[in-house]
Amino acid sequence: MKAVTWQGKRDVRVEEVPDPGIRKPDDVIVRITSSAVCGSDLHLYEVMTPYLNEGNVLGHEPMGVVEEVGPEVNAVAPGDRVVVPFNICCGSCWMCSQGLYSQCETTQQHEHGTGAALFGYTELYGEVPGGQAEYLRVPFGNTLPIKVPEGPADDRFLFLSDVLPTAWQGVEYAAVPDGGTLLVLGLGPIGEMATRIGQHRGYRVLAVDLVPDRLERARSHGVEVYDLQEHEDDLVEVVREATGGRGPDSVLDAVGMEAHGAPVAKAVQQAAGFLPSVLQRKVMDNASMDRLHALYLAIELVRRGGTISVSGVYGGTSDPLPMRVLFDKQVQIRMGQANVLRWVPEIMPLLLDGDPLGTDAFASHRVPLDQAPDAYEKFQKKEDGYFKVVLQP
Ligand SMILES: NC(=O)c1ccc[n+]([C@@H]2O[C@H](COP(=O)([O-])OP(=O)(O)OC[C@H]3O[C@@H](n4cnc5c(N)ncnc54)[C@H](O)[C@@H]3O)[C@@H](O)[C@H]2O)c1
Ligand SMILES: [Zn+2]
Ligand SMILES: [Zn+2]
Repeated sequence: MKAVTWQGKRDVRVEEVPDPGIRKPDDVIVRITSSAVCGSDLHLYEVMTPYLNEGNVLGHEPMGVVEEVGPEVNAVAPGDRVVVPFNICCGSCWMCSQGLYSQCETTQQHEHGTGAALFGYTELYGEVPGGQAEYLRVPFGNTLPIKVPEGPADDRFLFLSDVLPTAWQGVEYAAVPDGGTLLVLGLGPIGEMATRIGQHRGYRVLAVDLVPDRLERARSHGVEVYDLQEHEDDLVEVVREATGGRGPDSVLDAVGMEAHGAPVAKAVQQAAGFLPSVLQRKVMDNASMDRLHALYLAIELVRRGGTISVSGVYGGTSDPLPMRVLFDKQVQIRMGQANVLRWVPEIMPLLLDGDPLGTDAFASHRVPLDQAPDAYEKFQKKEDGYFKVVLQP
């Protein structure tokens, strides 16, 4: 089959790889019809390179049609339309029973001290072949695939794989009081979806980014947007003024480790990229390699006694944090990979009854799988309005 493979820093290629097959009695093989590219894939493209190996198949936001099932699978059958969550979880261990699917005890990666395995996401998360491919092997066939109805086009359901539950959890963890104010940092797909969810829940929503078409997109549905480039020096002041002098009740960081505005950390990330992979790992396993600009902004922006929710992915192990400010302001922080299946029952009704979150028109580009290298490049550079790309095998 054809698949998007990682070959090195900023180098992905579509190659022929062996077809996946049923390996365990509860495996399912899905023929992929749509597979999105995520901001998290950009971390693999640029920064997390020491944890990848040439030929790794990328992708963790797929959906398609069940092609084949193992003998123990009875929850889905060939021909069923399914979305595949990005976390690989058993659905029955203690963590899964608590709704903490991204911490699944059956697939935790003990060797690296990390949580549940993920599709298409580095050795740290199990090096499991991903879904930017024509076919995908999905384990735990009775609990993991999300069955969705025929009818609407793929995009209505595709974002259940990651964007919707991640943004949902981000807003949930932001603990915005009724009628309160949520400020979202970053208007990529995660941040943009979080603004919509915040509005759907009746919050006042503010957001910050620096890409003009992303700011415009959020502004067009009523978000109060701030351009970081314009407010490099006075963002905190201006936002505070707009929020009763206190700051927003909650701030959601939907940026993560590659934030704009952190030149020193960027230099460290880039320099580490030139070391041999063993040394790169040493640096990454023992040092701060995150660009923390967005998190620092969140800490400054949030009101005293407010909550910061972190959806953006961080990877450093000794990132410097302003503990005095956090302690003094009495800030609460929640974060983590989304527990995809935890939120599906709450989100699904919004996809079946109209489309209040606007998933049908959420993607900016749909391209054949073959064009993945170009799509990765444009998405990284945020060129040509690239916002959310769906690959169509
Ligand atoms: N927690 C999870 O389960 C989970 C799931 C999916 C994605 N993510 C993470 O969420 C983050 C966002 O993902 P995405 O797909 O929306 O990515 P993206 O790269 O498209 O979006 C990031 C946005 O942040 C903006 N930005 C950069 N620096 C900024 C700054 N200092 N202040 C404000 N905005 C800034 C960029 O211009 C961009 O629009 C990534 O870190 C991704 O890895 C987490
Ligand atoms: Zn993703
Ligand atoms: Zn589990």
